[in-house]
Amino acid sequence: MSDLIKKDETAAEHAKCMLNRRQFLMYTGTTAAAVSTISLNLFPGEAQAKARVVGYPRQHIGKLSQLKENAPLDFNYPDKGQNSQCFVVKMDGAKAGGGIGPQRDVVAFSYLCTHQGGFMNGKYQAVGEHRVLGQCPLHLSTYDLTRHGIIVSGQAYQSIPQVLLELDGDDIYAVGVMGLLFGRNENLMESQES
Ligand code: FES
Repeated sequence: MSDLIKKDETAAEHAKCMLNRRQFLMYTGTTAAAVSTISLNLFPGEAQAKARVVGYPRQHIGKLSQLKENAPLDFNYPDKGQNSQCFVVKMDGAKAGGGIGPQRDVVAFSYLCTHQGGFMNGKYQAVGEHRVLGQCPLHLSTYDLTRHGIIVSGQAYQSIPQVLLELDGDDIYAVGVMGLLFGRNENLMESQES
């Protein structure tokens, strides 16, 4: 294990249920390779941490100016393989963990329920201050999109995987995934061993 990982054991432990350490490392200011560096607030209102994401493709998924409030835009990530259906959404000013944009209300997630893979296309909801994905059509799980997709009701016991985003001007890029996509042993279909 590298010194980089050891230095950030506390942060890594905090998020170990969501992160694949080989592909997502907390940034310490040491020598950076050709990887994406993003700002990440673990939960709304918390100080942001700098994180560096390795191993994933940096994929253009849309423009901030094209997003309509509470209208998900679909894309595939991190590849075109099985269970790669994802969406990005601007949540009408609802600040979110990992959110980008001036209001930190733009987030992206997998559509696949972590319980048994129920497909939740069309299940985004904005109700009052709440922004959720669900209920899953199979067993009614619902996920809070302002808090990294944590489960708030139903049969699932893992958060819905969150796609890490980077904003470059008006362009939105997907740069990584927190959590394991349903039905996969690794998020990336092709081995990314270094
Ligand atoms: S598959 Fe979604 S709750 Fe079971």
